[in-house]
Formats: sequence, C-alpha cells, structure tokens
Amino acid sequence: MGQKGFWRGLLRGAEKFVQRIPMVQKRLEAEYAQVEQLVRTKIRPKVESLPRFSALPEQGIPHAQILEWLQQVHQVEAVPWQAGRVSGTVYHGGEALSAFLTQVFALHAHSNPLHADLFPSTVRFEAEIVRMTAALLNAPQTDDPDQQVVGTTTSGGTESILLAMKTYRDWARAEKGITEPEVIAPETAHPAFDKAAHLFCVKLIRTPVGDDFKANLEAMERAITRRTIALVGSAPSYPHGVIDPIPQIARLAKQYGLGMHVDACLGGFILPFVEQLGYPVTPWDFRVEGVTSISVDPHKYGYTPKGLSVILYRGRRLRRYQYFTATDWPGGLYASPTLPGSRPGVLSIAGWATMIAFGKQGYLETARQIMQTAIALRKGIEQIPELKLMGEPLFLIAFTSATDKVNIYQVFDQMVQRGWRLNALQRPPGVHFAVTARHTQAGIADAFLNDLREAVAYVKAHPEEKGEMAPIYGMANSLPFRGVVDEVLRRYLDALYD
Ligand SMILES: Cc1ncc(COP(=O)(O)O)c(C=O)c1O
Repeated sequence: MGQKGFWRGLLRGAEKFVQRIPMVQKRLEAEYAQVEQLVRTKIRPKVESLPRFSALPEQGIPHAQILEWLQQVHQVEAVPWQAGRVSGTVYHGGEALSAFLTQVFALHAHSNPLHADLFPSTVRFEAEIVRMTAALLNAPQTDDPDQQVVGTTTSGGTESILLAMKTYRDWARAEKGITEPEVIAPETAHPAFDKAAHLFCVKLIRTPVGDDFKANLEAMERAITRRTIALVGSAPSYPHGVIDPIPQIARLAKQYGLGMHVDACLGGFILPFVEQLGYPVTPWDFRVEGVTSISVDPHKYGYTPKGLSVILYRGRRLRRYQYFTATDWPGGLYASPTLPGSRPGVLSIAGWATMIAFGKQGYLETARQIMQTAIALRKGIEQIPELKLMGEPLFLIAFTSATDKVNIYQVFDQMVQRGWRLNALQRPPGVHFAVTARHTQAGIADAFLNDLREAVAYVKAHPEEKGEMAPIYGMANSLPFRGVVDEVLRRYLDALYD
C-alpha cells in the first residue's frame, strides 16, 4: 500500500469510528434530512394537476388526455433551457430542429438495431455516423487495418468511456498478460472513468492537475507501473473546459506501449470547427500519433437528441475487444457490440438525420456564434473584480471567487434566484457555464453578465445569508470524511425514485 493509500485507510477508519458516536449520528441524520427535504422540493413536478400513478390505470387513458398532460409539462419545463438560462444540457433545441426531429421520431419509433435483418437501414445509418465522426476527427485514410479508425455508436459518453476501458482491459489481458490492470487519468477526467474502474475491476489512478487545470505530465509518468494499460486525457475536461496536453500524454503512452484514450465527449463535435475558425486549439484528435481511442458525443455539440455517442479506435483489432458474444445459449447465437441488448434505433436515426441536416457549414456557423458569445461572457467576467477565471476557457467558462469576501456558492445560489442554472465545481470551489446555441440568442450574454454583477454585489452585501446549495457544497468541499458526502448522494438517488 502506498503512502496515500495508508492515509486514506486511516481516514476511513476514523470516519467509521466517529460516525458511531451517538451525538454525531444524531447530528448527521439531521443534516441528511435537511438535504433530502431540499432535494424533494427541487424535483417535485411543477405541474400540480399531473396525476400520480403507483399502479397501472385500470382502463387505458385516451391519447389526447396524455398529450395534454405532456404539453403542460413541456410548457413549464422547457422555459429555462429554451430561454437560454441553463449551462450545457440542451445544446441546440431550436424550433425548426425540434419540429424536424418530431417527424423523424414519428417514422422510426420502433426501430431496434439488435435485429439487423429487420432494421438494416438503422445499422447502415449507425455505420455512417461512425464514419462521418471518424472523418471529422481526422482519421487517416488508409487500408492498413492497424491504422484504420473504426468504432461503434453507443448510448452516451458514459457508455463510450465504459467500453473503451473494458476494451483496454481485455486487450491488455490477452496481449500482455496483465491481470490487475491500472488506468491513469488526471483528477479532472469525468467520473465515468471511476464507474468503469468499479464495474470492470480496473484500478483507476488519479493524478493531479496544474494551476492551469491541465494534466500534470510528470505525475502521470510517475504513476506508470508494469500493470498500467492506458492513459487518459480530456478534450476538454468537464470541470474547467481546458484541453489536456494530449500530444505529450500520447507520446508517453506510445513510449510505454500503452493505450491512450482521449475523452472528447464534450468537445468532439465543436473543437474541429473552433479550430477552423482560427482559435488556438491544442491538438487532440487522430492526427496525434499515439492516440488510440476517442469518445465523442453527437448528443452534446453535435445537437442530436440525447442517447447518441461514438467510440472510435485506431486499429480494427482493438475494437474486437469491445464486442460480446455468446455461442452456446439455447436462445440462439448472440452477439452485441455495446453494453445494451435491444437498443432504441430511433435515436441513431435522429442523430444521423441531425448530422446531415447541419453539415459542416451548419456546425461551423453555430460554433462561430457560440465562440462569440463565450468570448463576450469571458470578457465580462474578467471585468468583475471579485471573480477570476479558472484556466483558459474556450466555450465552457469556469470561474471562482477572487476574494474571500465572496463565497462562489452563494453567487451560484443568487444566480439561481435570478433564473440561471450554472454548474457547481469543487476541490477547488468554483462554477462553470457551458455556452451552447441557446445562449447565442440576442441579449442572453448581456442579461447573464448583468445578473452576475448583481449576484456578486448581493453576496458581498449579505455574506451571512446561507442560501440553498452553498451550505451543501461548502460541506462537500471541506469535509475530509467522504463517506458522509457519499451518503448524501445516495439519499439524493433514493429521493429520485421515492
Ligand atoms: C468530458 C465529458 N466526458 C464524459 C461525459 C459523460 O457523458 P454522458 O453524460 O453523455 O454520459 C461528459 C458529460 O458531460 C463530459 O463532459
């Protein structure tokens, strides 16, 4: 056990001991109850007249009635994102696109590409999504099977990352005899890597990032052992929107004979156009030697409906390790390329339709508008003396407090009061705003900056006001006992289904 492991173990032991003290238990339960109450009020349906079902209705309800309920829900819930007040989440959502997709859904709601013989067009569309995405990411045009970029569609960024990690695990086991695999990722890489490590029994080694929030190369190299199977970098990272030094990480991976995964879930569909517009973009795609896989999400800046991501590999052999087959099942011969069995083919069809409806020019123009808006926001935030940017932003802007007189989570709460939804960051504290097509509408950037200035001034004048999320994030940031934070999160998940 390393020194870090020893201290972590000691802390866990101390935590368990402290939690058994009745007074602490009582206090914790009170804290948990408060969080639960907050969660319940936050996720309470906003349409009061919506009936609740805890068993199937005896008689089916007429379509018109159901549609009326759903219309009411839409009218309330679509307001914040349609008005451009929400970070990320709905990356386009324009009216014409939504109307087009509604027609696509109506035509193909029942497609299931597990049955390739019955839905051959869906299968073809998926292959085209993979090919178009590989071309966008500068996959080499070659007949060499070891250099060809191939892949599959998946249900989202998390599944693409899970599959990449499983692929490296099985590859390293088969080709290098590694039975206790380790993957090295900067601490800013998405929690999907932790999930993959948890599910596939891979050890995830998290390495620190520098003051610029980018992966620290020396730390990554120091973490390499005989058991290492792959290195990870983000383009860009979710917390701060910065691109890790991919060329250097890839060189390291090549030198040690490791896999190198680039998580471009967030940036994969916008960075090629940001680069084309002339902004400085760290190289991160298949032009970089040593990059062996990339996850990229059409369902973010590709503007497709949710449920579509692509995982790409350099080399046909690597993709084989992703597949699952069952040869002896009495139900027949079974093969599936990804995690689910049956899949909603309509999401792939709608994704394919969105991609060819935008085309390169459509994506380029949208990226231009997003970058213009992001630059306006960045400049405005830089002019607020109480705030400072975290790292060098492109289209996702992370910022924090520049003074201990302003608690950034109280600013977050004040922005909520003014109708905005930012994302809270921790370790260190901060917030971010992912600029999307929704924010390119006239007046949004100005309204955001006005409200942000007001929010900061309010927090400065009322430092004692607690707010809603500020205490929770304050606790999560400062508490060395992560088990308590873990329990808060599990109670949050319980509340979603209660
Ligand atoms: C960098 C990055 N990777 C992975 C993911 C996970 O994607 P999904 O939520 O589609 O599973 C996200 C989501 O925001 C992300 O920003």
